[in-house]
Amino acid sequence: MTFLITAGPTREAIDPVRYLTNRSSGKMGYAIADVAASKGYRVILISGPIDSGVDVPDGVDYVPVESAGEMYAAVERWIGSADVAIFAAAVADYRPVECMEQKLKKEGEEMDLRLVRNRDILGSARDVFLFNGVLVGFAAETENVLENARGKLLKKGCDMVVANDVSRSDIGFDSDENEVVLVFREGEEIVEKASKKSIARSVVSAAMSLEGEM
Ligand code: CTP
Repeated sequence: MTFLITAGPTREAIDPVRYLTNRSSGKMGYAIADVAASKGYRVILISGPIDSGVDVPDGVDYVPVESAGEMYAAVERWIGSADVAIFAAAVADYRPVECMEQKLKKEGEEMDLRLVRNRDILGSARDVFLFNGVLVGFAAETENVLENARGKLLKKGCDMVVANDVSRSDIGFDSDENEVVLVFREGEEIVEKASKKSIARSVVSAAMSLEGEM
């Protein structure tokens, strides 16, 4: 049994010294990788740059990437070997239209930065990468959590979406705790507030039961 897990933020370069990114700590994805590896499964962990101090779990095949484009290429390369794919990364939706070769010099009081949409990696799993294993996405929402998560599940062909409310300051992002709802094609299950390690156990065991049904 092989798990492919994406984790962390991505960095979208503006010039040689600047980039766009987000507040993802990578903790949730790394906790899932750790749980799956300690159950003896092969784990391919494709991760953006993490500076929250979490270590790469022992025994995983670690594939470090920087940008959404690199993460897309790594997933395309490895997803064929996976039975379960869990997309926990906070992939940047947009990147600068071009990365300047030289450091940008300041000019004037305002500046415009043109962005272009990144490809949806999770959304490519079924149609482009032809992945037919268990597909798990994440949904970070600030409102209408269940409804938005279910929309993502259907649109991206997922078997399960792990939804969390990122408007709450006591969970998510930098926190060591989380509270999520596991949204399935039929029904959902609340996983009460707990450590990310404990949430990761619930995610892995739900993914394993889905695998058993396939
Ligand atoms: N995802 C991805 N590739 C992207 C964007 C997102 O693989 N380019 C994955 C994330 O890893 C996560 C899920 O898709 O599993 C999040 O879905 P998305 O629709 O991108 O969430 P939001 O960015 O919150 O979307 P929206 O702005 O529509 O709410």
